[in-house]
Amino acid sequence: MKAIVVGDQTAGTAGMKLVERPEPQAAINDVVVQVHAAGFVNTELEWPSTWADRGFRDRTPSILGHELAGVVTALGYGTTGLSIGQRVFGLSDWHRDGTLAEYVAMEARNLAPLPGDVDFTVGASLPISGLTAWQGLFQHGRLQAGQSVLAHGAAGAVGSIVAQLAREAGAYVIGTGRAADRQKALDFGAHEFVDLGNDSLEDIGGVDLVFDVIGGGVQKRSAALIRAGGTLVTVVGPTDVRPSEGLTIDFVVESDRAQLGEIVQRVRDGRLRTNIGKVSSLDDAVAIFNASERRTGKTVIRIRP
Ligand SMILES: NC(=O)c1ccc[n+]([C@@H]2O[C@H](COP(=O)([O-])OP(=O)(O)OC[C@H]3O[C@@H](n4cnc5c(N)ncnc54)[C@H](OP(=O)(O)O)[C@@H]3O)[C@@H](O)[C@H]2O)c1
Repeated sequence: MKAIVVGDQTAGTAGMKLVERPEPQAAINDVVVQVHAAGFVNTELEWPSTWADRGFRDRTPSILGHELAGVVTALGYGTTGLSIGQRVFGLSDWHRDGTLAEYVAMEARNLAPLPGDVDFTVGASLPISGLTAWQGLFQHGRLQAGQSVLAHGAAGAVGSIVAQLAREAGAYVIGTGRAADRQKALDFGAHEFVDLGNDSLEDIGGVDLVFDVIGGGVQKRSAALIRAGGTLVTVVGPTDVRPSEGLTIDFVVESDRAQLGEIVQRVRDGRLRTNIGKVSSLDDAVAIFNASERRTGKTVIRIRP
């Protein structure tokens, strides 16, 4: 099968190669999925799991990509809950070969059924951004109606879903990003927008929840705005930054079948809009990931036309 691999940690996206690899086998509780569309997060190249397995052994050349939509083609020993021929979408294990490939073997529990009226491109755009937003707001941030959320990068893949879900849950949403992203962030549900390059973050006053996808100085300044009892939720790694009277939670998104179901149902009934940027073929994907132009929204690779 065709797959996009990396083997050199120092090469960045220039080290990506489209190669032939053997088709994967389904292990215990696995399924093999014929991938129709896959997503990719650029920062994957910085994650230790891209380079090492769970025993910290070198696993290169490793196949990139961890979110997908496709069709189940094989079941492993003991696998229940999914059938051959079923349309699915989900999030694969960070430490295993991924989804920028024609086939992937992954645990069935990390997949959810993809309804027949949802396109594979849409399905592949949802798992990482959708689950990250859902878990950050509701599981870790314990968001309540009437609270306020500072949604950083609100025109980006995660932030645009944070803004929509938070608004739907009855929160007041302040989106942030670059000047050019103002209208997009407002369209995705932010009540107001802070241009981080030109506006003063401090002017927004206090907030209950900061959803951080940026880190650094922006994270630190945002933590200072958190009201007593509020939460800094961050997805850019462990941090020492703490609100003075609140919690900091950093987390890595996990797959969850029920949450995937909630997310895709919102897309079907129009409560949630996807934020898909470029859509490319597998043959063109390496060039797309190496292009210098700014990409906004989720890049989706159509593995099967
Ligand atoms: N821990 C987890 O489980 C998890 C899960 C998902 C994502 N993540 C991480 O979350 C981050 C965001 O992911 P994503 O997929 O949403 O990326 P994305 O689509 O690129 O969105 C990030 C948005 O924030 C904007 N932004 C970044 N730095 C900014 C700054 N200093 N000022 C103004 N705007 C800024 C970006 O604009 P530009 O494109 O112009 O920079 C972009 O619009 C990544 O670091 C990713 O690795 C972590």
